[in-house]
Amino acid sequence: MTATFLITGVTGFIGFPILVAALAGGHTVRYMARTEEKARAVSSHPAVRALAPGPRLASVVLPDAAAEGAFDAALQGATHVIRAGSPGPTPGGDPAAHIFQPTVRVAAGLLDAALRAPSVRRVVVTSSIAGNIGAGEPPPPPGVTLSAATRVPPPEPPAPLRFRDAHEAYAAAKAAELRDTDAFVRARQPRFGVAHTCSNGVALALVTGGGAAAAARRTHLRAALAGGAAVPADLGLAAPCDFGALFAVVARAFPRAVAAGVFAPTRAAAAATTLPLAYDSADVERLLGRPLKTLDEAFLDVAAQYLEALGVEKA
Ligand SMILES: NC(=O)c1ccc[n+]([C@@H]2O[C@H](COP(=O)([O-])OP(=O)(O)OC[C@H]3O[C@@H](n4cnc5c(N)ncnc54)[C@H](OP(=O)(O)O)[C@@H]3O)[C@@H](O)[C@H]2O)c1
Repeated sequence: MTATFLITGVTGFIGFPILVAALAGGHTVRYMARTEEKARAVSSHPAVRALAPGPRLASVVLPDAAAEGAFDAALQGATHVIRAGSPGPTPGGDPAAHIFQPTVRVAAGLLDAALRAPSVRRVVVTSSIAGNIGAGEPPPPPGVTLSAATRVPPPEPPAPLRFRDAHEAYAAAKAAELRDTDAFVRARQPRFGVAHTCSNGVALALVTGGGAAAAARRTHLRAALAGGAAVPADLGLAAPCDFGALFAVVARAFPRAVAAGVFAPTRAAAAATTLPLAYDSADVERLLGRPLKTLDEAFLDVAAQYLEALGVEKA
């Protein structure tokens, strides 16, 4: 079956590989970008051009996705929607205006617009483990496996106007987005399915960084394409990690690169602490048909790619 995707966030780390994978899978892709220049950069990227998508690829330039009715035209004829366009926990600016408000408003606007678009069959929203554990709350007790059932409550409306920092605004936005999406599904009972992926930032960066792994893009595409109740609403995408052990793993696999100084332990790595968090990723493993990579494996993939890019021996 081929789908007509609407994908947001395609200039980003998560969204771009999803766009490429959707095109490579033979699907039609409409994507949103905030400026013409960004749309040109995406459509002319060598990974996109290599697929020669022709009329299967179109862009919609939308400077403000939070504007009233912003998604209406872009959703016409779309069957599957992947929302990976959302501010990250980047410092700078007012966290309420730049992170919390756009995240929550765009999520609500997209779901409302999807109700008005009869072609839409599934919406997948990229969320984060931060929306589950919050910012600044005590870590969950050891042995607790995080899941939709363990979410910290988001701030009650009215929305907070001030946040301590970008991370607090990000965690609150992700928590509010999860709460609002679930409330939307309960209250409006849409004819389309809604799923969110809850990922661990660092682990996700590493598993998606490995060209061989690409767990994130596969999860988003499969979550979008799998039918009906087969896909649950909360998809954990978090590999276990122990930051303190990572350098030793690399040193064992690539001793010559370490001896040559290509890889060297940094002070930041030595000082890193690991929160022992486990997120229930069983549904994603079923969806992918294999276990998620451990952080060690994913890290070794990235290290091997780095050596390959440098043109030095992988040893
Ligand atoms: N990377 C991870 O490890 C990770 C882990 C957990 C969850 N996530 C989630 O995955 C999603 C994508 O993350 P990413 O790592 O791909 O981030 P990224 O590389 O920073 O890309 C963010 C994307 O969102 C768009 N965007 C940012 N603010 C926006 C706004 N106000 N309105 C519309 N579009 C906006 C950006 O467009 P512009 O180019 O126009 O700025 C860009 O395309 C986010 O929801 C993030 O919370 C990521």
